[in-house]
Amino acid sequence: MLTAGAFSASSLFNLSLAKGLSTANDAVEGYTPLEVAGDEDYWTVIQQAYTVDRNIINLNNGGVSPSPRIVQEAVERYNKMANEGPSYFMWRILDQGREPLRQKLAALAGCSAEEIAINRNSSEALITIIYGLDLEPGDEVLGTKQDYPNMINAWKQKALRNGIKYTQISFNFPIENDEEIVAAYEKAITPKTKVIHVTHMVNWLGQIMPVKKIARMAHAKGIEVICDGAHSFGLMDFKIPDLECDYFGTSLHKFLSAPIGSGMLYIKKDKIGKIWPLVCNDNPRGTDIRKFETLGTRSFPIEQGIGEALNFHNAIGPKRKEERIRYLKNYWANKVKDIPGVSLSTSLKPEYSCAICGVSIQGMTPQELDKQLFDKYKVHVVGITWENVSCVRVTPHVYTTLQDLDTFAGAIEEIAKSKKV
Ligand SMILES: Cc1ncc(COP(=O)(O)O)c(C=O)c1O
Repeated sequence: MLTAGAFSASSLFNLSLAKGLSTANDAVEGYTPLEVAGDEDYWTVIQQAYTVDRNIINLNNGGVSPSPRIVQEAVERYNKMANEGPSYFMWRILDQGREPLRQKLAALAGCSAEEIAINRNSSEALITIIYGLDLEPGDEVLGTKQDYPNMINAWKQKALRNGIKYTQISFNFPIENDEEIVAAYEKAITPKTKVIHVTHMVNWLGQIMPVKKIARMAHAKGIEVICDGAHSFGLMDFKIPDLECDYFGTSLHKFLSAPIGSGMLYIKKDKIGKIWPLVCNDNPRGTDIRKFETLGTRSFPIEQGIGEALNFHNAIGPKRKEERIRYLKNYWANKVKDIPGVSLSTSLKPEYSCAICGVSIQGMTPQELDKQLFDKYKVHVVGITWENVSCVRVTPHVYTTLQDLDTFAGAIEEIAKSKKV
């Protein structure tokens, strides 16, 4: 059932964790992911695979997520190996793991391995596309005010350098209507629009965007679609080609729990040739996806550690993991949503949210609430003030316990009560 690791013979996962997890998996066999979402016996096994500091409650996994112990140990082991003779062990030994890793990532992404490049993060993946696309002066790109700043800035820089026009629409999230979202993009399209940039899961408050519907509408007009999947890959159970976008970038150090500083780029096979690599190689117009991996010297241990994160993820099962994280979000959100003075910024409908949910308390700025949650309760979240979004962003992960969320929900209740005049 478990896919082999990039270095399967010596996979730490196979040696240490697989047995415990497979016993836990046997116990829930026959139950649906939704049923297992609330099975604390099962999730206790998963929680124990992490080494997080339980003296603080980290509810900012949307920023970056910790890796389970096996992933950390793999990175340490590969790092030791690399330092026994870097050029030999990195370039002749560890480098052998890249192709099996590409295959494993492609299996999870549901595409050909020839469409996957391994890199360091979403920013690198998406900026490769943004800078690598040939656009003429006057061509238009459509994005939103709620996209991620690195991507917005990349488009603005491209507009300055190449004379393209970058247009941003703005959404008042939460929106529980796909057609309304698609129509807003459609309305902003002009005959010069060449690209739509869409964030799969909006980082500020977790809205899930109807990427496939946007892509269908865009493609019917000859417009390409870039999808920022920083938060969705490794969290939700989907296959990239099902989104029907042309390009997709993600960070593996978010919900996949891969080593920090690992990312992935997907480009539809027939589009690879026309994208200029960010760091060039000897065949910049080539159609081999590997042209995007000429990044110079980088961390092979981090890259190879991705294999153990995939083993761990696959052993839980993508759908089971998605449902558990959504369950955790709903668990705390339902506890606080009716408290006077408290409001949520995110839909609780499964099709519009998963891990991330925004919360605010009347009479407090997000930064004040963020500070109080940490100072008094040791709950780490992130205060968001961005465009029309103002909330504290809360993101549990599979290692989060219900007690953590009880503490957090209790803190929200206490703070809200203290603010009531
Ligand atoms: C929507 C979105 N896109 C891109 C990024 C950039 O990710 P990274 O810092 O891993 O490059 C983030 C980071 O949080 C994000 O939320």
